[in-house]
Amino acid sequence: MSDPTNSPIPPNRWELNISSAHDASYAECFEDLIERGEDIDGEARLADVLAPRRARILDAGAGIGRVAAALALRGHDVTAVEKDPDLVSRSRARFPDVAVVESDILGLSTAVLEAAGRPTSYDVIVVVGNVMIYLAEDTEVRALRTLGSLLAPKGRILVGFRPHKGPEHSREYPVEDFRRHVSEAGLGLEHVFGTYELRPAADDYVVAVLRPV
Ligand SMILES: C[S@@+](CC[C@H](N)C(=O)[O-])C[C@H]1O[C@@H](n2cnc3c(N)ncnc32)[C@H](O)[C@@H]1O
Repeated sequence: MSDPTNSPIPPNRWELNISSAHDASYAECFEDLIERGEDIDGEARLADVLAPRRARILDAGAGIGRVAAALALRGHDVTAVEKDPDLVSRSRARFPDVAVVESDILGLSTAVLEAAGRPTSYDVIVVVGNVMIYLAEDTEVRALRTLGSLLAPKGRILVGFRPHKGPEHSREYPVEDFRRHVSEAGLGLEHVFGTYELRPAADDYVVAVLRPV
């Protein structure tokens, strides 16, 4: 297989559909939950369990920055990466202390992170809130490989997505395809759960922990 690292970056499913206003509805939904003081920290709590104290954590496809901010509150050095300019602005306005790198996941590299003044190696990378099912077509392995290249030696990646009947414009992503992509990206599947409270693997949601092999 040719190395796709330097190939052009195709538009992802999220940005292809920005005009459909689903990005605003995602943002407004979570902003409303935050205003109402609801607990939306499930992903961050599990990421915190996976991390050493004062860890370097990268939130890939961070959206409005809600998970990144919850992790920063727990004492971690967090870098949010987001491509949608509206979500980048919302994140910077709501959580000004969280560093946001405006980039596609596929465009990340140690050079890009270094230029942004951010760590180049991470203890935990979170790819939660259905980011995997909004990647551009056939870029799942490339995205996982790119993120894997930024892991510290004992680092781990926390992934969460709905494999079937996900939100509008997202892909169907059977767990067998995900398992194959993880392996093709040179990563190992350490755990698969069905929820962030570590319920057993289920058909309706995938929560996975990946590690370098
Ligand atoms: C439903 S939102 C979830 C945001 C956030 N992770 C959360 O849980 O609140 C999906 C996000 O995936 C991001 N995304 C999808 N593909 C991406 C890519 N290739 N590079 C960067 N961000 C991407 C979108 O821009 C969007 O912010």
